[in-house]
Amino acid sequence: MSSQSKSTFFATCAPGLEAVLHKEIADLRFAKVERQVGGVRFDGSDKDMIRANLWLRTAGRVLKRLTRFEAHGSDPLYRGTKDLPWEQYIKKGGTLRVDAQTKDSELDHSHFVEQRIKDAVVDRLTELGFPRPVVVGEEADLRIHAHLYRNRVTISLDSSGSGLRKRGYRVENGRAPLAETLAAGMVLASRWNGKAPMVDPFCGSGTLLIEAALISCNMAPGRYRKAFGFQSWPSFIPKVWNKMLAEARAGECPLGKTRIIGYDKNEGHLRQAQANVDSAGFGDKIQLEVADARTFSPRKGWNAHVITNPPYGIRVGESEDLEPLYSDFAECLRDHAVGSRLTMLTQDTLVDAMDLGPGKQTRLRNGAIECTLYQVDIKELA
Ligand SMILES: C[S@@+](CC[C@H](N)C(=O)[O-])C[C@H]1O[C@@H](n2cnc3c(N)ncnc32)[C@H](O)[C@@H]1O
Repeated sequence: MSSQSKSTFFATCAPGLEAVLHKEIADLRFAKVERQVGGVRFDGSDKDMIRANLWLRTAGRVLKRLTRFEAHGSDPLYRGTKDLPWEQYIKKGGTLRVDAQTKDSELDHSHFVEQRIKDAVVDRLTELGFPRPVVVGEEADLRIHAHLYRNRVTISLDSSGSGLRKRGYRVENGRAPLAETLAAGMVLASRWNGKAPMVDPFCGSGTLLIEAALISCNMAPGRYRKAFGFQSWPSFIPKVWNKMLAEARAGECPLGKTRIIGYDKNEGHLRQAQANVDSAGFGDKIQLEVADARTFSPRKGWNAHVITNPPYGIRVGESEDLEPLYSDFAECLRDHAVGSRLTMLTQDTLVDAMDLGPGKQTRLRNGAIECTLYQVDIKELA
């Protein structure tokens, strides 16, 4: 991994967050940064790849491309895969996992594609005298990612291992926690400057608060993680990672006077938030209080950034029950938070119930659910 040779990488993200991820990657000054659907590609060295894993807040995974070739059937897929020097990417006795996605291709069963790739890798390794690698789940030493689109195969190594949303600070999940990557994307999209008060009136397990604190303190989102995929590769040099992590930690700054406050009407959820906030190291710095968002009233003159993810209905009929909650919350904002900016993840119908103006609306996917990221400046009624 000391090699400075350049590779092509693809950082994945939730659909709708591509622009935010693109900016993050451009800020890291990687080469040939290009926004695509579901992620951003860039060129860089393996050191850049490590930096991407440590610093990217909105990326789900960082994939290192090994090859691209045409495969109209099973044999070319097998041969193209077997030609790759797998012995360089896995240690003797290492474990393996293959994930494939396929679209508009003759090989249209992802599970079959995974099997053929696994066979090719295992055959190559055993022919070279390696013990047969065991195929495992999430914690595999080598995770291979295959993408087929119109019979074109891209084979990559997953340098992240388990998804980057798993920061390592979460000890309590709550009922419907936001993915950390999505929460960070909301905070970055809000254009919060890291100094103004930041408030989440529906904070649940505290994800938005913690991601905001990490951003404000210039703390790398990967600083808590115990393991990344690239750390199991034979080329991994621990010194390189340790130095990068130490440099990142040296650049952290305290929260200082920045106020980050979470409210929730459910005491149990707040206890979970407190456990997560403590685990992330912000114990007494992030304020948590039991309060109903229908009586939300931030301090006068705060001009806060209200960044939040209220409950929203995903089953037919449910959203109707939530409309009064949204309109009461909107009334509180109009009455007590003029000058604040709202950034909220929800559904369009609920945005309409608030009657705060069109603002800016971006389609965003939260797992399998289509959502809207709604951003609006709270103004006095005309
Ligand atoms: C979708 S969850 C938020 C999840 C959170 N972003 C996280 O990452 O854990 C919505 C939260 O709103 C809270 N809630 C529902 N109605 C509320 C109200 N009227 N006032 C305050 N909180 C409320 C729920 O208790 C729940 O924790």
